[in-house]
Amino acid sequence: MRKKITIIGAGNVGATAAHWAASRGIADVVLVDVVEGVPQGKALDLSQAGPVDGFPFSVTGSNDFADSADSDVVIITAGLARKPGMSRDDLLAKNVAIVKSCSEQAAKYSPDAVLIVVTNPIDAMVYTGFKVSGFPKNRVIGMAGVLDSARYRTFLAQALGVAPRDVNAMVMGIHGDKMMPLIRLANVAGVPVSDLLSDDELAAIVHRTQTGGAEIVNHLKTGSAFYTPGLAAVEMAEAVLTDSKRVLPCAAYLEGEFGISGCFLGVPVVIGSEGVEKIMEFKLTDEEQTALHESEKAVHVQMEATGL
Ligand code: 2OP
Repeated sequence: MRKKITIIGAGNVGATAAHWAASRGIADVVLVDVVEGVPQGKALDLSQAGPVDGFPFSVTGSNDFADSADSDVVIITAGLARKPGMSRDDLLAKNVAIVKSCSEQAAKYSPDAVLIVVTNPIDAMVYTGFKVSGFPKNRVIGMAGVLDSARYRTFLAQALGVAPRDVNAMVMGIHGDKMMPLIRLANVAGVPVSDLLSDDELAAIVHRTQTGGAEIVNHLKTGSAFYTPGLAAVEMAEAVLTDSKRVLPCAAYLEGEFGISGCFLGVPVVIGSEGVEKIMEFKLTDEEQTALHESEKAVHVQMEATGL
């Protein structure tokens, strides 16, 4: 049975996610948006890359959520993006209504899907998807840690002059300024980065990771990043569709893990066909635990603002 991914939102992130999903050849892709013509045009364009790129699956665009029916994974990217000077929190009021509507449609047409939420502020928006869809917590996942960790790994690789793929590093916590790029666990082919870079160099890389989204917004002026956010969501979707048990940092619903309950927060999880199949809990240092509680407090403020 062919697998199916629906991507809601045919803006930069959604269309790019469709591109990565098609090119990786993991499932039929349906791109849905409320704007007439945009999903249809972008999907038609992308589908015509099939003969060149070689992907075998279909890419279709629609303004009708019914065309998303029976998706295995639904990725929500719809919503406003930041402009220079805006925080992700500034998007909350407008995006919560959009994500509510998308989550209702996802639950209506694909009640057995895994829901991946990308829209910002992500930790509150994935909570919105969880509350509105009624899906069990394992089938609702927020995309942030894969993106933030990719940035962290890129900056470390650039500083060390090594291939990014050989840098292992993880970002936990909120997808915001209080995110936690972990130095203690970062390594290059097993060699701790703290043996390879000075404290000042590492501090600068941690800060650049924490502000990585804003750095791109300030360049673009009219929106935020989309190439790696789109790919990160597809990386998660692929783990679901192939039941690959990938260990990826994602916003997952915590009920006591890492000493935190009742909110979504970026932690390492095992992703398979059931979505979040295991939260990869491990011992944090006192400093890391304190930082994670700071993230938790910031997420609860956002959750309150959703009114859910
Ligand atoms: C970012 O960090 C858009 O939140 C996303 O680039």
